[in-house]
Amino acid sequence: MSTDIRDIPEAHVDRALDLAYLAFHEKTGDATRKRHREALLRCERVGAYDDGEIVGFAAAHRLGLSVPGGELPVAELDFVSVAPTHRRRGVLTGMMAGMWRRCAADGRPLACLWASEDAIYGRFGFAPATEAYSVEIDTTRPLGLRITPDRRPLRLLAPADAVGVLAPLYEAGRARRGGRLSRDEAWWRRALLSGDEDGDDGKDGPSRIVVLGDKGAPAAGYVVYRVGEKGVVTVGEMEAPDAPAAAALWSYLAAIDLTRKVRAWAVAPDDPLLHFAADRDQVRVTGRLPALWLRLVDVARALTARSWAVPADLVLEVRDAALPANAGRFRLTADPSGATYEPSGDPADLALDVRELAACYLGGVPLRRLVRAGLAEERTPGAARSLDAALETEYLPFAGDDF
Ligand SMILES: CC(C)(COP(=O)(O)OP(=O)(O)OC[C@H]1O[C@@H](n2cnc3c(N)ncnc32)[C@H](O)[C@@H]1OP(=O)(O)O)[C@@H](O)C(=O)NCCC(=O)NCCS
Repeated sequence: MSTDIRDIPEAHVDRALDLAYLAFHEKTGDATRKRHREALLRCERVGAYDDGEIVGFAAAHRLGLSVPGGELPVAELDFVSVAPTHRRRGVLTGMMAGMWRRCAADGRPLACLWASEDAIYGRFGFAPATEAYSVEIDTTRPLGLRITPDRRPLRLLAPADAVGVLAPLYEAGRARRGGRLSRDEAWWRRALLSGDEDGDDGKDGPSRIVVLGDKGAPAAGYVVYRVGEKGVVTVGEMEAPDAPAAAALWSYLAAIDLTRKVRAWAVAPDDPLLHFAADRDQVRVTGRLPALWLRLVDVARALTARSWAVPADLVLEVRDAALPANAGRFRLTADPSGATYEPSGDPADLALDVRELAACYLGGVPLRRLVRAGLAEERTPGAARSLDAALETEYLPFAGDDF
């Protein structure tokens, strides 16, 4: 490959954006471009240059990702694009290597992304680590529930007043579930004002924000939604710490006048709606998405930083073609007070690729399932069950950030 992988300076950000819009076949207006530009100035930017032209581009937002028991710095990859004239020549492969060097230099043990196509990222050590369900509710009849909703009042909030009310609930949600990214003011502003930016199809109304709880008291839940011209209510995000709060918010959405359907493109697979709905013909799961893809860039740090449900003592033989420091045999000794992960000469109990470890890391995918699928090898009977018990989390990991 004759391309040269190096950082993209601020002066080349517009050229990098032009490449991204070319690769994604996107036509963007001034407001979207301005927002992308501002975001990119805060990102790490790796470029592939061919004779001075940018032919490859990948950015990484510097964020925090909730993991069981805490949070870790993560490189969230975005704008990954290669010029159509330079595809399948190893440009992306070169940029990924550049990203790993940057993660190591910065002490970021994780990388994550939303994939445009499933086939791209497994070879780079990524695996889907969260799953999201798309759900539709037929609201031509009242929503039947098996529990009593929280009866506190519901209030509409103006977007300008919302961030301070919503952010603490979101943070509490992140503490419960792995897979959720940190958000700054700019993120909230963009998300809550969506619908007013160019590039919008104009068919949906503006974002509406409803919170549960008495005025003056901390909010007990929120939902952000838009209503489309065909009477479809589209849920951007709901945060409800308990089932009665969730029941109040889903009931509210289902009862909005002049609408006939509620559509949520991403809810957690363990969302209580799927259990307390009285009629599952009325509340249907219409799709399942892999959602957030995760890469353990520094396996030792990732494993020793998360919490563990029960003790485990196992030797893992890990393969990692791109990052040799992760490869080899290591003894994982974990219990609810912490974990160690050290090189070991003992025979392995489990052998697996780093991407399978990423799939299991947040507690969303049991390793036993991957052993049964032939993707990981259990050399000591019961080892996968033992690791699964230690990895288990109270709530399933979830990511649904893209609203
Ligand atoms: C996806 C994309 C970034 C790949 O870049 P690239 O420089 O062609 O990738 P590489 O040449 O480094 O490919 C490395 C390997 O991945 C494979 N690969 C890359 N993209 C693939 C895809 N979309 N589907 C299947 N395999 C893919 C290549 O065939 C190659 O396999 P090999 O090593 O067995 O030959 C590029 O095609 C692109 O810009 N696409 C449009 C935008 C997009 O989808 N970006 C991803 C956003 S999440």
